[in-house]
Amino acid sequence: MADTTVMEKLVSLCKRRGFIFPGSEIYGGLNGTWDYGPLGVELLRNIKNAWWHDNVTSREDIVGLDSAILMQRTVWQASGHENNFTDPLVDCKTCKSRFRADQIPESQCPRKPSKHPGEFGECQLTEARKFNLMFKTFVGPIEENATQVYLRPETAQGIFVNFKNVVDSTRIKVPFGIAQIGKSFRNEITPKQFIFRSREFEQMEIEFFCHPGSSAEWYQRWRDERFKWYQDLGLKGDKLRLREHAADELSHYSQGTSDVEYLFPWGWGELEGIAHRGDYDLKQHMQFSGKDLTYFDDEKKERFIPHVIEPSAGATRSLLAFLCEAFAEETITDEESGKQDTRTVLRLHPRLAPVKAAVFPLVKKDGMPERAMAIYKDLQKHFAVFYDEKGAVGRRYRRQDEAGTPFCITVDGQTAQDQTVTLRERDSMKQERVGVDRLKGLLLERM
Ligand code: GAP
Repeated sequence: MADTTVMEKLVSLCKRRGFIFPGSEIYGGLNGTWDYGPLGVELLRNIKNAWWHDNVTSREDIVGLDSAILMQRTVWQASGHENNFTDPLVDCKTCKSRFRADQIPESQCPRKPSKHPGEFGECQLTEARKFNLMFKTFVGPIEENATQVYLRPETAQGIFVNFKNVVDSTRIKVPFGIAQIGKSFRNEITPKQFIFRSREFEQMEIEFFCHPGSSAEWYQRWRDERFKWYQDLGLKGDKLRLREHAADELSHYSQGTSDVEYLFPWGWGELEGIAHRGDYDLKQHMQFSGKDLTYFDDEKKERFIPHVIEPSAGATRSLLAFLCEAFAEETITDEESGKQDTRTVLRLHPRLAPVKAAVFPLVKKDGMPERAMAIYKDLQKHFAVFYDEKGAVGRRYRRQDEAGTPFCITVDGQTAQDQTVTLRERDSMKQERVGVDRLKGLLLERM
């Protein structure tokens, strides 16, 4: 299957099954914005919950934060975003299109799609100029320079400006991290590849503060740990890699950066950057705010500016990687009719699957819907379950395969006699009889 076909099929599945819709669709859409539907919102929440559990609540050395999206303009002057968070923008005076100068080799001329911008005789490209990616808005009723603020382009700065608050209000000691999940906004010149590059997206970021002497070691630990996180959630094999930046790719303050990259159908793309940021951010905020953001180690009686390791992940972008990895089309023998059929399946990791199990009563007699409903209600207390009594059971299985549901439970005539149900596993399609009393425990164990 051609790779572009995979993306087309996936985008279509996302719309059809309620994972992802184009933003403002009934008004013709708003480029670079996406809405997460009933299944998409569960998948995104499960990714964020897995990240929060694995990086915050199951560790002693990381605490959480939820800072404001609107921040003082000075924050972005201190961080360097107001001057440097730019992309090189090129205009075409003929077709009025805009391109990122560094992406021209992979862009199409709108008038002559077989050529790149600038290659077609009628193209009139301007010199590249710097375009700041931050969205501007105003606080209060008066739109003037003094009231101008930005929507945050990353969640990280909310963490840095709260470093002292967290140290003063908790007993946590360096080395420790502050984690935050939230929306970020970038006025991307060319949003593209479905949700991969959007203008509004979600990030999951950690700023890990450590002693300068141990920062190199923490950098290595975080690279390895974060890479493994994606592997454990199903991004296995040679489609996932950890790429260390070359010296000439690094920011002037960075002592090392590695990207976790996934091989999307159109090529490699970054899911997360793990950066050794040194003391750059705290120093900048000390200088611009005039506040003391140094740390005092009580035991060693030493005062220092902590160094920072930043694992910065895209929640929405990793959702796309999990979907790409999970998507498959295969020819199978239909469980009910025995005929050859094609099934579309999302082999999502059970932790991420929007719905964990579906309950189907086979026929509407012998108290079967009631019995199935009772199983559904019981399981629903523990995890997300779906109840479906419509259509042939083969069709019902197919619908759950497409939604990525790892388990289906069929309640049939035998259930009334021996209190067993059929448990069907999504990937292998294997079926087994399981006692109703064992069902919950078995599912929790397999998830
Ligand atoms: N605080 C560091 C920082 O924001 P970044 O590499 O610019 O670093 C981190 O962003 C992650 O955020 C990226 O690896 C990517 O997963 C996600 N991301 C960045 N821009 C995005 C966009 N326009 N759309 C979707 N995700 C984006």
